[in-house]
Amino acid sequence: MNATHEKLREEFDAYVAEDKKIEPKDWMPDGYRKTLIRQISQHAHSEVVGMLPESNWITRAPSLQRKAILLAKVQDEAGHGLYLYSAAETLGVDRADLIADLLSGKARYSSIFNYPTLTWADMGAIGWLVDGAAIMNQVPLCRCSYGPYARAMTRVCREESFHQRQGYSIMMELMKGTEDQKAMAQDSLNRWWWPSLMMFGPSDKHSTHSSQNMKWNIKRFSNDELRQRMVDMTVPQAELIGLKIPDSDLKWNNETGHYDFGEIDWEEFNNVLSGNGPCNKERLEARNKAHDDGAWVREAASAYAEKKSKK
Ligand SMILES: [Fe+2]
Ligand SMILES: [Fe+2]
Repeated sequence: MNATHEKLREEFDAYVAEDKKIEPKDWMPDGYRKTLIRQISQHAHSEVVGMLPESNWITRAPSLQRKAILLAKVQDEAGHGLYLYSAAETLGVDRADLIADLLSGKARYSSIFNYPTLTWADMGAIGWLVDGAAIMNQVPLCRCSYGPYARAMTRVCREESFHQRQGYSIMMELMKGTEDQKAMAQDSLNRWWWPSLMMFGPSDKHSTHSSQNMKWNIKRFSNDELRQRMVDMTVPQAELIGLKIPDSDLKWNNETGHYDFGEIDWEEFNNVLSGNGPCNKERLEARNKAHDDGAWVREAASAYAEKKSKK
């Protein structure tokens, strides 16, 4: 490291420590840029792949109103993907390369979307728990040190809160219904509970990127802190509508002021992460097909842009 580089680095660290925002043209360490490209692109991929499990139920929604709500929600996720790919591009990468990495299986996206959606209640559980966990993760990102990411997150979080509420409202309605409907809601919670807690990533003991990301104000809270918040927030919501969290170790702890909860099945977590979840293959095939089917749209858009620039 030469003297000028070291000075830039010191100035950068001091600037970030003051909670100021870094903008695309500012100097930044390579590691910071790389971390953000990885995180923002993974986030964008998750939004886009995240549309797949729910789109499975748009045609089978139980009423016109539920269909309209779900359709709007899934469209929001496409929009989130677009803001995030744009935010990633401000770091000097090309969206086409990011997408190529997703389609080839090289890039990661949130493992939660590799689980199947078996019943209508899964639309409730996903909104309530998966979008709920996303909010927990993303609200602190609104204060992330990288300006374009932080600003994208502000809008995304407002929409996520609608997603969470529509999911909880599906669960609430099912729990007011027949015994079969209640059983369907409970079964869905049983299947989605643990994968939702896995969304916060490995436990702090095994998390590799955490401390540097905290110093850079990319991450504000540790994986375990956020997971604990999720449990503390969700348990009373489940109890309110008569659902039982599928964890025999779950217990309120008066001393800590938090819920104690059981151990996550990390083997399942690693297995899904490494590509062997129930739907990994299906999700990638669906994305590849969508990409191929959309080739003519990209061609037409490029031809139009070229024609316009010549005028
Ligand atoms: Fe989203
Ligand atoms: Fe969402």
